[in-house]
Amino acid sequence: MDMFHFGIVGALLPALILLSSSRPCRADSNANTGLQCSGADNSTTENEFQTNLKNLLDTLVLKGPVSDGFYKTETGKKANKVYGLVQCRGDMSAGNCANCTKDATAEALSKCPKSKEVSVWFTWCFLRYSNDSFFGIMEQGSVAITNDTDFDDPYAISKGLFFMGGLASTAPNQPRMFQTAVLDVGQSGKRYGVAQCSLDISRGDCGVCLDAQLASFRTTIGNKRWWETYGPSCFMWYHDYQFYFNISMPASEGSRRASSYGRVSIGVTIAMLALLVVV
Ligand SMILES: *[C@@H]1O[C@H](CO)[C@@H](O)[C@H](O)[C@H]1NC(C)=O
Ligand SMILES: *[C@@H]1O[C@H](CO)[C@@H](O)[C@H](O)[C@H]1NC(C)=O
Ligand SMILES: *[C@@H]1O[C@H](CO)[C@@H](O)[C@H](O)[C@H]1NC(C)=O
Ligand SMILES: *[C@@H]1O[C@H](CO)[C@@H](O)[C@H](O)[C@H]1NC(C)=O
Ligand SMILES: *[C@@H]1O[C@H](CO)[C@@H](O)[C@H](O)[C@H]1NC(C)=O
Repeated sequence: MDMFHFGIVGALLPALILLSSSRPCRADSNANTGLQCSGADNSTTENEFQTNLKNLLDTLVLKGPVSDGFYKTETGKKANKVYGLVQCRGDMSAGNCANCTKDATAEALSKCPKSKEVSVWFTWCFLRYSNDSFFGIMEQGSVAITNDTDFDDPYAISKGLFFMGGLASTAPNQPRMFQTAVLDVGQSGKRYGVAQCSLDISRGDCGVCLDAQLASFRTTIGNKRWWETYGPSCFMWYHDYQFYFNISMPASEGSRRASSYGRVSIGVTIAMLALLVVV
């Protein structure tokens, strides 16, 4: 599995850690896909900030899963104020969203205990907090994950990016800025795509964010059988099997997350083949 980076824009984040971890080849399961932390700052460990951060994370873990998978909030005052949000992939059940949020929180605290600004990406959720207000500010810096030698066949390649470009243009108009789509590539089967934006940004910025990911990674992902992109403001997934859960009733409260079906999590540890950082 390779990871590619582009433009860590906006806030300067000195420390950047990319994690390669267990990834399923077929069945979708939750995997840790990345972590980004600001430099160690000892004042992070002071009581007041810690209390605010704990309250913030407790609230996100509690509210995110029961708020259709997205919640943002802030705690504390002045220098100790902290802002945070959690966004689960749009097809997640409340249970999966809760588990993922808990895992992301634990990951942030264990890997970056002295950072005031942390972003944690899992396949199923995204957690971000910062002492600086970031709500509503779209950021294009992203990571692409793919298998650099898993080339798709020419017909699928000729359709894939165009298909995802369509999703990038329509997902921003969906109620939750989340959309799935299926592409028929004849003898090669089907390709499944998902595009999603963090709900704190505008629909216009959502489109800009998704387009920017496709443009930046065009040559990296365009001829691959599968890929995923993760940024602070938007995310995309593209696979040759249906990795997302069926959603029965989009946009209706409660029942829209009827989703659990038996699943096997086949964790296949994939060594990171290469790491390319393009700024
Ligand atoms: C931060 O804390 C570490 C360990 O307690 C200490 O070694 C370091 O000097 C401190 N840095 C600053 C800038 O105070
Ligand atoms: C959440 O995690 C717990 C403990 O790992 C597990 O037993 C439970 O099945 C998970 N829930 C969902 C919905 O995945
Ligand atoms: C957030 O913390 C960083 C250091 O960790 C500091 O440079 C910055 O000024 C802080 N921002 C605010 C709004 O306090
Ligand atoms: C990447 O794809 C190639 C070609 O399909 C495959 O042989 C290889 O096992 C894959 N690598 C990983 C790490 O999954
Ligand atoms: C989702 O629903 C479609 C159509 O009903 C079905 O063919 C497919 O197997 C389902 N997929 C999953 C992952 O549940």
